[in-house]
Order: sequence, then structure tokens, then C-alpha cells
Amino acid sequence: MTDFAALLVADRGQRARPIHLVDKNSFESWVKKRPAEDRALLEAQRLDGKNAFAFALLPRGGEFEVVSTVKDAGDLSPWCLAKLAESLPQGVYKLAEGEPGIASLGWLLGQHRFDDYRSKKDEADRGPRALVTTSAANIEASVRLAEATALVRDLVNTPAAELGPIELEQEVRKLATDSGAQARVTSGNELAEGYPLIAAVGAAATAARTPRLIELEWGKPDDPRVAIVGKGVCFDSGGLDLKSASGMRLMKKDMGGAAHAIALARLIIAERLPVRLHLLVPAVENAVSSGAYRPGDIIKSRQGSFVEIDNTDAEGRLILADALTKAGESKPELIVDFATLTGAARVALGPDLPAFFASDESLAASAAEVWKEVDDPMWRMPLWEPYDEMLKSDIADFANASSSPMAGCITAAIFLKKFVPESTAWAHLDTFAWREAAKPGRPKGGEALGLRAIFALLQRRYLHQ
Ligand code: BES
Ligand code: ZN
Ligand code: ZN
Repeated sequence: MTDFAALLVADRGQRARPIHLVDKNSFESWVKKRPAEDRALLEAQRLDGKNAFAFALLPRGGEFEVVSTVKDAGDLSPWCLAKLAESLPQGVYKLAEGEPGIASLGWLLGQHRFDDYRSKKDEADRGPRALVTTSAANIEASVRLAEATALVRDLVNTPAAELGPIELEQEVRKLATDSGAQARVTSGNELAEGYPLIAAVGAAATAARTPRLIELEWGKPDDPRVAIVGKGVCFDSGGLDLKSASGMRLMKKDMGGAAHAIALARLIIAERLPVRLHLLVPAVENAVSSGAYRPGDIIKSRQGSFVEIDNTDAEGRLILADALTKAGESKPELIVDFATLTGAARVALGPDLPAFFASDESLAASAAEVWKEVDDPMWRMPLWEPYDEMLKSDIADFANASSSPMAGCITAAIFLKKFVPESTAWAHLDTFAWREAAKPGRPKGGEALGLRAIFALLQRRYLHQ
């Protein structure tokens, strides 16, 4: 993992190349005030304030200064320094005016690469570009957020062959060791008896990739209980309802929810948020073999309800159902789950905007505010109860998939809701966990979407009240 702490450093008066962030709207007037020599250089480098993420260098003896236009110099975005961090040569830099604040994140992530599988390391080897800040609190917070985001990206990017249920277990065990938390893993007969839906979905996987429920508990027993649940489908072939080649191509990312949940748990622990944390990661591979669960099978869930399998590709909601039931048994104050649950969420909102469901109006209102503050968007979708009808089964209590292709992410959320206690505030994120087109600081591939927003939501709920 990138050493982010070396890239955002305390201001000790060290020599640092200045970075001038200039508001796009006032670029012309800013340029006019510069010496003629600078103006000529900016023009020669075609920095005219029109293009996003553009920058130019102004030589100063053997050194140089950086000029970069930004949308709003008074309200920096997390990504406005990312292109600079990616492009500038090794060295120490400092904003000519003000503090980087939220923009530190892009500076850090602009220097993170997933290059474990490149035999020749690229650009990142140019050496660290460090940014100076006077805020120790900013260093701590930004480094943690960068680490959490990079963790999600790296876990999602790792091929399924090398990231199965065991590796997810190891990731949680590592967190437990690092933080003095307790980890518990349920597998084998105990899983089959206690968590029949998780066992059924994972039944077709090979002996080295058997299903399990991975749990971690941390915090003081008297603090409010918060459960974080993440869908850990290490590969989703669709099962016997096999996906098409194109539909399967990205399905190594189907543990993206688990990656978000683990990263969020790390953030909560690092911040020592006053909550009693319960992390639950049902980890399986949705594979194909003679032992696979079938369409038409009826499985009695941990909750006691009978679920008819309409489609083995709607596996995420099944493993989450048993995990949510378990989470509810400790009577948490809040449950948050993350899942790459439906293609329908992406059809509705596109790849950048996770579908956000909340059972509780104040939770939803608070979410709508915080995502704007931290620039990590999510969009609320309705838990429209009348669509429960679409999950009806002729012979069991209900089915795992809808009889209609419509409102797929809503019916999936309605399915999950059946397993959440009425009295518990619940938030569900149907996230894509993937970026299809690179942007500065955000390469194509695994992506954390909604992670910073939910962390900010928890900070607000448990720190500032
Ligand atoms: N993991 C997929 C959902 C998914 C697909 C997320 C593509 C992101 C991109 C999930 O397990 C799934 O296959 N869902 C089905 C549900 C259907 C069978 C009711 C879907 O969305 O098509
Ligand atoms: Zn599926
Ligand atoms: Zn899936």
C-alpha cells in the first residue's frame, strides 16, 4: 500500500514549491496582475482558465512554481489537486495561499496505483510528491480516508482467484489484530445450521473457497450498537442461472460491498468513534457445480421464513438476509449495509451514483446533507412497499427475485428490509464499486462509492450530538 503519510506532511518551514490555485472565473484578472514574463509563460503553456485540471509551470531560477486553475478556489473539491499529484515531479509542494483541506485526498490518491500485476512498475516510481499543510488534524483524517479508499480499490481490483472468502477473512482478521477487536468466523456445519442462505449460495464453491460469515466486534459495550454489513460475493458467475460472458466479466467486484464495509470499520476504529461496532461480512463464491443451489429450491432462512429461489443470480440479497438477521439479534441502533446488489441500480442512476435506501427520514435527511459536504454523492431511492407483491411465491413465504424486470433495485431493497428489525434505523447502499472511465485521482477499476459519505454520516450522528 502506498505510504500516504509521506505524501502529506507537516509544515516545518521546509522549502516547498508554491502551487497557485486560481479561480477559473477570476483567472483573467489574476493573470493581468502577474509580471509580463509570467504572462508570456502561461500563454505559451496555454493555461487560459478554460480547461479543468489544467496547470502550468513558472521557472524560478533552478526551481519552479505551479499555477493551476480550479472551479472555486474558496471551496476546493477533493479532486482538484489530483492531476497535479499525478503529473508533477518528485519534491515538496505547498499551496501559495490557504490550506489544502478536503483537496488533500486527491493529492494522496493521485499517487496510488494498483500495480501488483505489472511486471514493470510505471510512473508511480518517479518518487513521492509531498504536500505541506499546517493542519495536523487534516493529515490524520486525509491519510485515513486515502488508505480506506485505496483498500476498497485494491480489494476490488484483485482477481477473484486470489481474493476468495479466505482472503476476505484474513482482511478482517488483520483489522482485528491491528485494533484489538474480536473476530469470529462461522463456516462448515455451523454455517449450514445457523446461516442456511449463506451456506446455500456458497455450496458450489471448491473446498478452498467454502462460504463463511466473518464478524468483528469492537468498542465499549455501553456505546450505541452499529452494525455494518457488506456483500462478499468473491465471484458471481450467476450460479445455475449463469450470467452471460459480458455480464460476468466484472464480477470479481461483487465483493465490493464487503470491501466498503471493512474499510468503513477501519475508519470507525481509527477515529475511535464512540460506537459498539459489529462488522458482518458474508463471504461466498456464487459458483456452478453439481452441489449448487437451484432455481425452485426453498430454503429456510436464519429468520425462519421460507425463501423460494427464483433466480440463483439474485444471491447477494440471500447472503445479506442471514447476515442482517444476525445483526438485528444484538438490537443495534443502526444497521448500514453495502452491496453490489443489482444491475438495476446502475441502470437507474449510472455508475457514479450509488442508490441509497433509508428506513428512517432523519437518517435520509442527514445523508443528503453530508454527501454534499464530503463530495461523495448518493441518491435516495424509495422503499416502495407495494412492490413487495413482486416477490410473492406460489408455495413459500416469498421469492428471492421479482417476477417483473421493473424497479429491480427497489425490490432487492424490499427483500432485505424483511430481515431488518422494525425498530432499527437502516441504510442500504446499492453501489457499483467500479469506475468505468478514469478521472484524476480515480483510475478505471475498483472504486469506493458512498464510503466517505457514510463515514461522515456516522461522525455526525455519534460525535456531534
Ligand atoms: N452482482 C449482481 C448485480 C450487479 C450486476 C451489480 C452488474 C453490478 C453490475 C447481482 O448478484 C445480480 O446478479 N443481480 C441480478 C438480480 C436479478 C437476477 C433479479 C441483476 O441485477 O440482474
Ligand atoms: Zn448475481
Ligand atoms: Zn452478485
